Amino acid sequence: MGRGVNMESLGLFVLLILAFFHWTAASSADKITWSYSGLVGQSEWSEYFPECGGTSQSPIDVVTTQTKYDPSLIPVELPGYSQYGNLPFAMHNNGHSVIVQLPEWMGLGGLPWFYTAVQLHFHWGSGGPGHGGSEHTINGMGSDAELHVVHYNSDLYPNMSTAMTKKDGLAVLGILIETGEETNPGYNNIINHLSRIRHADKRTFIPAFDVQQLLPKDLGSYYRYNGSLTTPPCYQSVLWTVFHERVKISKAQLLKMETILYSTKEQEADRMLLQNNYRITQPLNQRVIFASFSEGSGRKLSSGEVTAIVIGVMCGCVGVAVIIRFIVKTIRFFKLLHLETVAVNSSTSSWDILHNNRPAPMPRTKETEQSQEKKTDLVVMTTSESERKEESSPSPQTKP
Ligand SMILES: *[C@@H]1O[C@H](CO)[C@@H](O)[C@H](O)[C@H]1NC(C)=O
Ligand SMILES: *[C@@H]1O[C@H](CO)[C@@H](O)[C@H](O)[C@H]1NC(C)=O
Repeated sequence: MGRGVNMESLGLFVLLILAFFHWTAASSADKITWSYSGLVGQSEWSEYFPECGGTSQSPIDVVTTQTKYDPSLIPVELPGYSQYGNLPFAMHNNGHSVIVQLPEWMGLGGLPWFYTAVQLHFHWGSGGPGHGGSEHTINGMGSDAELHVVHYNSDLYPNMSTAMTKKDGLAVLGILIETGEETNPGYNNIINHLSRIRHADKRTFIPAFDVQQLLPKDLGSYYRYNGSLTTPPCYQSVLWTVFHERVKISKAQLLKMETILYSTKEQEADRMLLQNNYRITQPLNQRVIFASFSEGSGRKLSSGEVTAIVIGVMCGCVGVAVIIRFIVKTIRFFKLLHLETVAVNSSTSSWDILHNNRPAPMPRTKETEQSQEKKTDLVVMTTSESERKEESSPSPQTKP
């Protein structure tokens, strides 16, 4: 009996100690300041946030030859995106990215559930164009930055904080951003106001704008897979939509994004630029990436590709025309040469000796000229006949 009680109390003691450690670990994880490199860098995340070491993590590299075409994947719908209203959007720097809060009437449709918009944020690199910055990559190729628009499953859950821990809780749109020649006016709605939130924890309001301007035109071509939040706590609750079409911003816009914000707070002595806030791609493991389009055939062409094809076809046509003209000319030349030789052979036998004067082709030219004259006469006659007919026909009508 006594021994049994001792064993029970020992068991309880161990349980209490375990619970205590679990509690301290959990509370420290809430406070832990993670980063992309350094003490609690990406490779250490899973020590403090176990889900970061899970088997369905994001981002991933999309290997297009291994995607599965799913014709049931319809274009995404963005109800409310363009009805942005006149209440300003809250924007803040959380030390990891710039976050814009979205109004709750914005939503995401065309998926198995209806999702309500929560926020959007960006990931970027450093060093300007061509130095990486996107989280997802396609066939190993990243781009300069990436936009994420986060939504929660409002068919099943009351709010973001409840939904984010559930397997079917979130839906995120991923947009790969690359550098082009022109300024993207949509992106200036955010970039032009970044200087107001340079330090971590700074907040501001920006005028409301049409968030759909930040998305690619083609909402029907995308990759879909089950993944996670790309920042701690890395909950594996995200149904991802990564668009096939990339969006372009100017080099100046990219450089502003990369160099205006700090990951440190205003009062901190050592300022650190907020750069390279992207996670490296994670193992796909057993997951399947579905494509809404079949590579090559099914997808719609961009305007650039259409222009290229039109120019290509036109050049091709001109080339073929030149070649045909050349062939026809060559054939004519050889025909003439043949006729000339025949004419020469049939003319005087003294040709071989008296090659100074070339009398032979003369009659032939005259003949053709004459026949051509005849032909033209014929044409003139026919036209004048028809003209006469036309002249004569309306006259009875004009009489009465
Ligand atoms: C989210 O919903 C849950 C359940 O209804 C509630 O307990 C919680 O307070 C809500 N959280 C927020 C941030 O509204
Ligand atoms: C995501 O996971 C759910 C539940 O396991 C599954 O029903 C669904 O088909 C998956 N979706 C994709 C795109 O893999």
